[in-house]
Amino acid sequence: MKNKIVVVEATSTAFNYLEDIRALGYEPVILEAYLPDGYARRLLDEERKVKYSHIKYPITILKEDPDYAVTLQMVKDLDPLLVITGGEEGVVTGTRLADDLGMPGTPYSNIANMTQKSVMHQSLKKAGLRYIRGTEVKSWDDCLAFLEQTGTEDVVLKHDHGAASVGVHLVHGREELKAAFEQESGADNNMFGEADTRFLLQERIFGTEYIVNTISRDGIPALTSVFKYFKKRTPSGAIIYSGNESINEPTDEEKALIDYALKAVCALGITDGPVHGEYMVDKKGPVLIEANCRVMGGSAPSGFLDKVFGYHETEVILNSMLDKEYHRRFRERPYKPLRKGYAKDFSAASDQPISFSGIVPILLGMKSFYSGWVENAGRTDMLHETVDLETETGCVYMVHDDPEVVKREFEQLMYIEENYPKLLQSDEPLFVAPEDKSQITPEIERILNKDPEVLISRIMAWYKNDALGDPVLPEALLNASPYNRRIMELLRGLC
Ligand SMILES: Nc1ncnc2c1ncn2[C@@H]1O[C@H](COP(=O)(O)OP(=O)(O)O)[C@@H](O)[C@H]1O
Ligand SMILES: [Mg+2]
Repeated sequence: MKNKIVVVEATSTAFNYLEDIRALGYEPVILEAYLPDGYARRLLDEERKVKYSHIKYPITILKEDPDYAVTLQMVKDLDPLLVITGGEEGVVTGTRLADDLGMPGTPYSNIANMTQKSVMHQSLKKAGLRYIRGTEVKSWDDCLAFLEQTGTEDVVLKHDHGAASVGVHLVHGREELKAAFEQESGADNNMFGEADTRFLLQERIFGTEYIVNTISRDGIPALTSVFKYFKKRTPSGAIIYSGNESINEPTDEEKALIDYALKAVCALGITDGPVHGEYMVDKKGPVLIEANCRVMGGSAPSGFLDKVFGYHETEVILNSMLDKEYHRRFRERPYKPLRKGYAKDFSAASDQPISFSGIVPILLGMKSFYSGWVENAGRTDMLHETVDLETETGCVYMVHDDPEVVKREFEQLMYIEENYPKLLQSDEPLFVAPEDKSQITPEIERILNKDPEVLISRIMAWYKNDALGDPVLPEALLNASPYNRRIMELLRGLC
């Protein structure tokens, strides 16, 4: 009996497929996608190393050959039951292999709709669905023509086949566009190592960003999850993620989004497999930004997704690809997540030295903290400015039985990050010393010199214990600055 399931690029959340495959009694095989040397390849190699260090059983790892025929033969020789696409780098080869081997998947002839943003929007237009006006640009004259023809100043220049926001520029007016176009024309940053980067110039949408994830079989998509994104602009102008929230009870506007997303997946001709769709909702309603034909990234732990949704997406995709009947049953059940879940992304506003990370005791003291990672003073003495997903300084998952609790804690983290970032990461003392040096008693001196992480843990423990016993902070230090009182109030609010 065939028992091998090949995952093409098992990184990011697609790493979770390996456990799911084993849980179903099959043998996972990794096929690493081919990427030429460069930035993207270095990042991917780094991630593979981290992810593979968690594999505690013998596993076959193959490497894609740049010559497709060689890769096809290699996979054929394994005689696998299924080939599934893992990360974004595996979309083209994963789709092609499944098609050539007669396995479930969207036909490879439809690959343009799965990878080229210009083609995606043309298909939406053809289907009578809302789309974003755009054009391929090869020269500055093409850019000017688009500005004139659309009469818009707010545009987006991006790679037609791109990923991870590399080469995406949200610009206003001719000058900014010219700078972006010149920078990109001279850059050598094609994510997939393609010889020619094709550039797409689009109208810019101003709206709220959402994710709608689906899994299709036989041309019918089933909804797996919906998330709303929180983004922010950094001091240097980059737009980065600050978090996301599971949408458990869609509003009417969000129901319209889901309805549009299901139609968009069909319009793109995605018949069999997942779509991690990025959408925006503005006054006119929902519109697709791009469809990614693979599981949602971000490395969300399966256990976290299970708590939020009652299932995790890799498991649902795998079961759906193996069994149409499973997919039909999954599709027919109502969308009813079990618990509210959030992901909180952390960032650094600039390069900054750190000697303590209050974020660690704060997260550990929270009721809704599930798991995640943060850069911290135990690992580094310097944070680097966050400009994109790769340079964020942490990402943690939060879930709780009580939706109010997780919402409040998420909002508190957002508030502290925005207004009191030094509570989270700093190399200055946690509290401000009294100006009048004569007020610095030995006790106050001790507190000012104490490791802020230990201090935060102690203060939180004290509040959790109904503030019984001696206060951790003497009155004189509280009175030294309104800032000190504020820090105490914030910590109390977290308990
Ligand atoms: N036309 C647009 N209008 C507004 N924002 C956009 C537009 N295109 C892209 N963006 C923003 O830029 C981000 C990255 O663009 P996207 O096309 O998804 O590139 P990538 O393939 O690198 O993820 C999107 O998630 C969205 O926030
Ligand atoms: Mg995207």
